[in-house]
Amino acid sequence: MILPGNSKLTSAIPFKVLKVRLQMLVLVTSCLVALVVISVSHRVYRWRNPKCKGKLPPGSMGIPIIGETIQFFTPYKSDVFDLSPFIKKRAARYGSLFRTSVVGQLIVVSTDPDLNHYVFQNGKLFQLWYTNSSTGILGKESIAEQQGLMHKHLRNLVLNLVGPGNLKENLLKEMDTITRMHFDKWAPLGTFDVKEESGNVILFGPRYCYSSFNMIFNYGALKLISYDESKSGRRLQECYTAMLDGIVSFPLNIPGTAFHKCMEGRKRAVNFIKETIDKRRMMETPQGDFLDLLLKEMENKDAILTEEIVLDLIFLLLFLTFESTSSAITVALKFIKENPAVLAELTNEHEAILQSRAKSDQDSGVTWKEYKSMTFTSMVINETVRLANIATLMLRKTVQDVEFKGYTIPAGWLVMVCPGSPHLNPVMYHNPLEFNPWRWEGQELHSASKNFIAFGGGARHCAGADFAKLQTALFIHHLVTKYRLAIWTIVKGGEIVRKPGLVFPNGLHIKISEKNEQ
Ligand code: HEM
Ligand SMILES: *[C@@H]1O[C@H](CO)[C@@H](O)[C@H](O)[C@H]1NC(C)=O
Ligand SMILES: *[C@@H]1O[C@H](CO)[C@@H](O)[C@H](O)[C@H]1NC(C)=O
Repeated sequence: MILPGNSKLTSAIPFKVLKVRLQMLVLVTSCLVALVVISVSHRVYRWRNPKCKGKLPPGSMGIPIIGETIQFFTPYKSDVFDLSPFIKKRAARYGSLFRTSVVGQLIVVSTDPDLNHYVFQNGKLFQLWYTNSSTGILGKESIAEQQGLMHKHLRNLVLNLVGPGNLKENLLKEMDTITRMHFDKWAPLGTFDVKEESGNVILFGPRYCYSSFNMIFNYGALKLISYDESKSGRRLQECYTAMLDGIVSFPLNIPGTAFHKCMEGRKRAVNFIKETIDKRRMMETPQGDFLDLLLKEMENKDAILTEEIVLDLIFLLLFLTFESTSSAITVALKFIKENPAVLAELTNEHEAILQSRAKSDQDSGVTWKEYKSMTFTSMVINETVRLANIATLMLRKTVQDVEFKGYTIPAGWLVMVCPGSPHLNPVMYHNPLEFNPWRWEGQELHSASKNFIAFGGGARHCAGADFAKLQTALFIHHLVTKYRLAIWTIVKGGEIVRKPGLVFPNGLHIKISEKNEQ
């Protein structure tokens, strides 16, 4: 039934009423808009002016939640060894301490050597913590999450493997043999990629990429869990691609994010390690690797290690053993290539080692004494890690409000230590952007030095520094002795991008010709 006059009823609303209704609508809407604007600007204001009982360091906080994440991670190619434009600009504007926000964290960036030192020396006030994303990727029980006694215990276990004692007694000989074998393989290939780019799987050879990256990863994995790539049928290494991109990121576990990629990699790697542990428990004979040691520790009646801790430790060590060292080697080769005088001096040092060996010992491999005599090589390595700042930043979380030079760093904030700030400071290093190994001549350094923090400092000082240095020295040794005064050219790659970690977008492909022995 159609009600007659229905339409009449509507049209009967007088124009005046309609106008009032419209005005109300406009009023309500503008009130709502005003409320939103007020609450947004309140949020923005709160975001930009975080709560603090004292005086916060100056700085901008960017927009809520996102903060200055985008600016912080913007890749840069020019002045790739200089401090990032992000930090340089803000340090010039605000001074050596400034506040910012990256990946949702409230952060005080320190380019102040005194604060860096204070942070390293006070592990209780400033706990190592690399944001929620790293906890997700590296695990809740990783060495990075451990404090106090448990940290000390794990650190000692790691040092048993990669510390100077074991390097001298066992690893030097093995590493030397493996490096030599790889050079023998690389030689006929003529050209090889020093740092395999993550997605770039096979460059040469039927099965492997003969890159330093691959060599170092497989050696680390062999020592840790007796991993043998050719037998396992799986490329464990692939679980670790793009790991660096995700460690400090927004912990959004959705396809497409770096974090998600890392979490997937973690899942596969942890599964593999777990299978290895299960198999190992059924074996009767020990394999003589790091896992044996950990399993023995776990079986102690007053064991403090759990399977979780063991999994996370091995997962992290697999990553640490190769990632930074292969970057160091790659960038060292680039520096050496660009500085013929350095190559000549290195060649002299290593040729001299061969010459001082007895004839019968020519092929006996590098000894510890010889390694310790590689002074110039050690200078080259120090200079490489100083200038390249392979570990670009270190993070700590404050457990309580900390006063420093008139400022307050509130509890729960992160402090970001930038090794580049002392390393590229012209007061501490003359002409800091120049690669000059000779600057290390006669330098007396100790690990607590404020000016040299490439391997960190304090109780969290890099446990693998000696391991990485030895591996780099052996790589250089075989390069300059096998290819005496090698004539090499970079055939491809060699570009470096920072975001702000070092990235080699096309690897570094070098072609070497063996020097004619006349
Ligand atoms: C050139 C190569 C390397 C560089 C530049 C480097 C740099 C660093 C830095 C800066 C830290 C301190 C992080 C912090 O304080 O937040 C660190 C810690 C650490 N590094 Fe390295 N590292 C290198 C190679 C290695 C290798 C090969 C290993 C593997 C065995 C390793 C194992 C560790 C461990 C276990 C820690 C944590 C120590 C702790 O928390 O007590 N590093 N590394
Ligand atoms: C980190 O995780 C904690 C606990 O899950 C959460 O309260 C916090 O909001 C997270 N922070 C960020 C920046 O994601
Ligand atoms: C290189 O740096 C280390 C500190 O990590 C220091 O002990 C060593 O003496 C330095 N080497 C040279 C040749 O200066």
